Amino acid sequence: MKALVSASYGPLEALEVTDLPAPRPEPGEVLLRTEAVSLNGVDPKLVTGAMKDFVPVRHPFVPGADVAGVVEAVGPDVTRFAAGDPVIAALGAPSGGLAELVVVKDDARLAVRPAGLDAVRGAALVTGAATALTVVDAADVGPGETVLVVGATGGVGSFTVQLARRTAGQVFATGRADDEAFLLGLGAHALIDREADLAAQIRRLVPAGVDVVLDVVQAGPALASSAAAARPGGRLVSVLGGPPAFDRGVGASYVSTQFPPGRLADLAAQAADGRLDVPVGATYPFADVRSAYLDFTTKHVAGKYVVTF
Ligand SMILES: NC(=O)c1ccc[n+]([C@@H]2O[C@H](COP(=O)([O-])OP(=O)(O)OC[C@H]3O[C@@H](n4cnc5c(N)ncnc54)[C@H](OP(=O)(O)O)[C@@H]3O)[C@@H](O)[C@H]2O)c1
Repeated sequence: MKALVSASYGPLEALEVTDLPAPRPEPGEVLLRTEAVSLNGVDPKLVTGAMKDFVPVRHPFVPGADVAGVVEAVGPDVTRFAAGDPVIAALGAPSGGLAELVVVKDDARLAVRPAGLDAVRGAALVTGAATALTVVDAADVGPGETVLVVGATGGVGSFTVQLARRTAGQVFATGRADDEAFLLGLGAHALIDREADLAAQIRRLVPAGVDVVLDVVQAGPALASSAAAARPGGRLVSVLGGPPAFDRGVGASYVSTQFPPGRLADLAAQAADGRLDVPVGATYPFADVRSAYLDFTTKHVAGKYVVTF
């Protein structure tokens, strides 16, 4: 089978499509024929080795964590799925999704893809939406609260805006000027220019600062610029690491994507019936998968990048 392979840690330019042995499902596993895979911010870090101290990968390494496909075969004891079922899956990191055939565990990270959710949108949904829900749950956004989403144009951020909007009074979202229509379309109340001082812009709209900052792109000391937009005693949630607290009593929590039972299926149902928009910014055929990664890391497109098979 064809797969996108990284032979060793190195630049994305060294990724190559090669033949690998087709995997077989063991007990508790499901074999998928891949239809679409969405790219995630973590993928380039796994390829280059930027995360090798925390999440080492074995080479040859196949990137790609969010897969939509059709069940090709099931392991001996799998009863929840059968050949021909359309599904979506989160492979987590390390991943392995950018291949014609993929083996996944039969667990909460695998769900039937309902009618109304095509493979491209299905692949685009998985980690972005589940992470966004984890972030919004951790922030416990209350009715009427004001929220700033930093990184709102990305895979996680575009779902974070929509989910925060369900309870928040007002949601402000970072982006470039060109992203305004996209962000307002997701339910944001105003664009916050990501290149300018976030706190100064927020204070013109909410003089005390927002109740909650959901920063889904920055890490470490850089989070201070987001935290400065929160009111005294406000809270910040991030998906990357950082300090335990910030000036003016702004509390911080750091989360990683959770897939409790039923969550992926529920998000899929919401996407299928239109309650959740799945923004797809660009699609590439698998033959152009290396270009997809190079564009993903160098060109700004609002919404998810998806590779189709
Ligand atoms: N802890 C976890 O469980 C977990 C789960 C999922 C993701 N993550 C991490 O979360 C981050 C985002 O992931 P993703 O998949 O959403 O990535 P993504 O699709 O690349 O989205 C990032 C978005 O943020 C924008 N951006 C970059 N720097 C910014 C800044 N300083 N201020 C405002 N916006 C900025 C990007 O714009 P450009 O297009 O211009 O770059 C892009 O639209 C990654 O670092 C990923 O590793 C962690």
